Amino acid sequence: MRSLIDILELSTKELDRLLATADDIIENPEKYAHKCAGKKLATLFFEPSTRTRLSFEAAMYELGGMCLGFSEAQSSSAAKGESIADTAKTVSCYADIIAMRHPKEGAPLVASMNASVPVINAGDGGHNHPTQTLADLLTIHREKGHFDNLTVGLCGDLKFGRTVHSLISALSRYKNINFVFISPSELKIPDYVKESLRKSGIPFTETTDLEAVISTLDILYMTRVQRERFFNEEDYLRLKDSYILTPEKLETAKADLSILHPLPRVNEISVAIDNDPRACYFKQVLYGKYMRMALILMLLEVE
Ligand code: CP
Repeated sequence: MRSLIDILELSTKELDRLLATADDIIENPEKYAHKCAGKKLATLFFEPSTRTRLSFEAAMYELGGMCLGFSEAQSSSAAKGESIADTAKTVSCYADIIAMRHPKEGAPLVASMNASVPVINAGDGGHNHPTQTLADLLTIHREKGHFDNLTVGLCGDLKFGRTVHSLISALSRYKNINFVFISPSELKIPDYVKESLRKSGIPFTETTDLEAVISTLDILYMTRVQRERFFNEEDYLRLKDSYILTPEKLETAKADLSILHPLPRVNEISVAIDNDPRACYFKQVLYGKYMRMALILMLLEVE
């Protein structure tokens, strides 16, 4: 039995297999419509979500399975003090696979150590979000056709952005990747990420100026400044509008730039960009469902 807590638990070969399965699901959805008949997915969400929870549930329904779960800690026995370990043991009695989101880093790992069914990390604090990375990878692959030789700009909250940390880990395995980190100085990429890139000889630069680097990018991954990660409201208000991508700022960007965002968006991409052919963030939402379908099949060992 296997869980997915960190994107690095998947080999490059397994990622390729997930991408190929997702592509096949897109082409031949009817082939997959009953693959999980009789199986149940539990979504245990201790933190708000629209895309991740609903796409997991849509994924399981489209595979012919069923779903149960909760969408906030207050409606579970966590509100009465139940531990993650006991919750995981309990839900293992009802479901064949669990997707868990939790504000505490490491909570899905603890769940996986106590559950008797596979556990998928659906986002843990500011740490990791591996299934968002699966959505990001499918988007990049369908837009560019490859992962090698890309200059990837990541912009916004690079300190607390769990989607950013997981995507850097995943892309670091490909050839000739060059990262450009664009953030206010208070929200810079953590030192441990930079140290890991240095050790692997992967080039990166840091800047506060999006317009100065936008013309060099093949991928621009925008992120939200996350109110829920700040201890101090004043700091959030000062930093929240650090970057707002507008049509004017895109004037010097490449014609084949791909703009991604894990969403939710607050202010950081103008809605005037939504119809630009370079905007990929709603395709990314859809691709997330297909990658979650592929992942559920892999972890449940459904052929
Ligand atoms: N991208 C993402 O995790 O969105 P939700 O918070 O809506 O699940």
